[in-house]
Amino acid sequence: MSDGAVTSTDSAAARRDPGFCRFHTDHTAVVHWSSDHGWSDYSLEPYAPITMDPGTLVLHYGQSVFEGLKAFRQPDGSAALFRPADHAHRLARSARRLAMAEMPASLFLAACADLVRADDGWLPGEPGQGLYLRPLMIATESALGLRDSRRYRCTFLAYPADPCFGRAFAPISVLTSAGAVRAVRGGVGEAKCSGNYAASLLTRKQANARGYDEVLWLDGLEFRWVEELSGMNVFFVWRADDERHGVRLTTPPCQGTIMRGVTRDSVIALAGDLGIPVTEEPTPIDAVLSGARSGRLVEMFACGTAAVVVAVGRIADGDGDTVIGGGQEGAVTARVRHTLMEIQHGIRPDTHGWLRSVRKDRASVHSSTDRQ
Ligand code: COI
Repeated sequence: MSDGAVTSTDSAAARRDPGFCRFHTDHTAVVHWSSDHGWSDYSLEPYAPITMDPGTLVLHYGQSVFEGLKAFRQPDGSAALFRPADHAHRLARSARRLAMAEMPASLFLAACADLVRADDGWLPGEPGQGLYLRPLMIATESALGLRDSRRYRCTFLAYPADPCFGRAFAPISVLTSAGAVRAVRGGVGEAKCSGNYAASLLTRKQANARGYDEVLWLDGLEFRWVEELSGMNVFFVWRADDERHGVRLTTPPCQGTIMRGVTRDSVIALAGDLGIPVTEEPTPIDAVLSGARSGRLVEMFACGTAAVVVAVGRIADGDGDTVIGGGQEGAVTARVRHTLMEIQHGIRPDTHGWLRSVRKDRASVHSSTDRQ
């Protein structure tokens, strides 16, 4: 995954070689919430740093949640957001878990559309490329007593983006999280909160230093059940017992410790469309490793908004490396990704109604004072 710092450049240069979110666009959409006024003061602004009091609650107690969604160029030259309402609902769920204000989906959708419209010139158009939107909501009240904030700010940022592991979609390698815990049931693992990512960084850095792209997180009690990667869900492609189907897909269930990925949900739906049986089922790491060795596990892939769908070619645990599917991308992984990308780019009919068009001619209108 690209680790380049974000800088500014002109939109044409960023579109030519965006990398993963290396360049910010010209604008941000900003909206505030206070216990007195609810959601108010919405504005589309030039991109700018924010200043804050060192006593601001987010800096101390970590009330910070975010989303990651993309807009894609369509064949008629317009832009469309992929499943923005699902991202809006997830942001609200994350906020609720951290005792933060829940943003109405209408406000979220309007802000995303305004930003994409304003920064349309930054949207790259090659397959797999998009404009990555990062709505970030933080506590902005200055107060050191331990309590939830009475003020929040949500800033919608935009970045031209290649998939985070690159457009070649070369298989990645993962190292299991022996001994390190990202989340446990009842905690905040399912919330898209900044602290979850902070909790993953040291283990991820150690995995990177050993030459692996990502951490494969196991459950925090038994270190037995596969959960997810640091920013992606995982799927397994098994040789089916039933000859008629050939293969079947599984993915770990959402039991409070993993991200309810929008891409994960899309993959489940697309597998159904493609006639591939798919189940959400607890998956022991031993079954994955022995399956890969015996050939019963034929493919594994990771998915997320940033990564799209990328094969996992190698897993390492305490006993060394295990190669999956010869270390190459398999046919199911490729088919699921192509299907998803064709829908995102408007090439294949959007039968699930996932795309939300952003029309350039529509005025930037939202002046919400939605209260909660
Ligand atoms: C995303 O896929 O949108 C994420 O938030 C993952 C992040 C680690 C880049």
